[in-house]
Amino acid sequence: MINFLHGMQTYELFRFVGIRIYFGVIKKEAAQVVSVTPLSAPRHFVLTMKSAHLASHSRPGHFIAVAADTGSAILRKPFSVYTVNPDAGEISILFSVYGPTTTAMSRMLPGDSIDVLGPLGGRIFDPEPIKGIHHILVGGGYGVPPLNYLAKTIRASAPDAMVTVIIGARTANLLVGDDDLLDAGVEVIYCTDDGSAGVHGRVTDALLPLLKSDSRVYTCGPTPMMKAVGELSEAHGVDCQVSLETFMPCGVGICVGCVVKMRDGVFSRTCTDGPVYPGCEVAW
Ligand SMILES: Cc1cc2nc3c(=O)[nH]c(=O)nc-3n(C[C@H](O)[C@H](O)[C@H](O)COP(=O)(O)OP(=O)(O)OC[C@H]3O[C@@H](n4cnc5c(N)ncnc54)[C@H](O)[C@@H]3O)c2cc1C
Ligand code: FES
Repeated sequence: MINFLHGMQTYELFRFVGIRIYFGVIKKEAAQVVSVTPLSAPRHFVLTMKSAHLASHSRPGHFIAVAADTGSAILRKPFSVYTVNPDAGEISILFSVYGPTTTAMSRMLPGDSIDVLGPLGGRIFDPEPIKGIHHILVGGGYGVPPLNYLAKTIRASAPDAMVTVIIGARTANLLVGDDDLLDAGVEVIYCTDDGSAGVHGRVTDALLPLLKSDSRVYTCGPTPMMKAVGELSEAHGVDCQVSLETFMPCGVGICVGCVVKMRDGVFSRTCTDGPVYPGCEVAW
C-alpha cells in the first residue's frame, strides 16, 4: 500500500484521499422499487424507488449507478436523478430501454430490490440565485430528466424566477417531458426535427431568440446538441452549464474511462470533476 502511494503523483494522491472522503456521502444500497411506469414515448419508463439516503442527498445534476442485471451487464450503468420526494423518501429515474440494465429495470415490479450506488457526481448544476435571471434549460434524449429536476428546484427556491425548458426530439412521440413543469409555472417549448410537434427545427432555433444578457443556460443531452447550445450561448456572452453524459464505467473516479479534454489541455474525469462544467471550459 505504501509503495502504491509513493508511486502516485501528489495531485493523484490528493485525488485518491479525496475519493475516500467523497465516499462518505456515497452509499450502496438495495433500494425497494415502488413503481415502474411506462410513458407514452415508446420504451420509456419512470422507475421510482424508496431511498431515504438518495432522497435527502441528491441534487440536480447528481446521478446514480445501477446494477440491475448482473447476469449479462458487467458494469453499473449511470442514470440521472429525475424526481425527488424527500418527505416520502423516494427518488425516480426516467430511462429508455437499450440493453441488459434498462431491460431488467423495465421488468421490475413493486417490492423488488434494485442495487444502486449514489448520489454520484462532483460538480452539479449551480443556478445563480439572482432575481431577474431567465433560466433556460435545454435538453434532448436522456438529458431531459436532470433538467426536469433542476427546473422544479429553481422554481421551489425562487417562486418568481423565470424558467423555460426547451425539449428537443427527432419526432413527436420521442418527446419526453413532465406535465408537472407546467403546473410549477415553468414555460415548456417543444421542438421536433420533423415538425410533428412544437417548433419545427432544432433546440437552438428556439433558444436563439431567448438569449439576452440576463439569461443563464443549462443543457444536457447528445454531445452535438450540447456543443451547439454551448457555442451559441458563448457567442452571445451568456453563461452555459453543460452536463456531460460520457461513458462512465466506474462512476467514482477510479477507472479514467470517462475523461474529456478541456480547453486548457487538461483531461477531466466527468464522473467526479463533473458531470456539470461551464460550457466554455470544454474542448468540444
Ligand atoms: C451521467 C449519465 C446520466 C445518464 N442518465 C440517463 C437517464 O437519466 N436515462 C437514461 O435512459 N439513460 C441515461 N444515461 C445513459 C445510460 O447510462 C445508458 O443508456 C446505459 O448504457 C444503458 O444500459 P444498458 O445496459 O441498458 O444498455 P447497454 O448495454 O449499455 O447498451 C446497449 C447498446 O445500446 C447502446 N446505447 C446505450 N445507451 C444508448 C443511448 N442512450 N443512445 C443510443 N445508444 C445507446 C450501447 O452503445 C449499446 O450498443 C446516462 C448516462 C450518463 C453517463
Ligand atoms: S467513470 Fe471511472 S473514472 Fe470516471
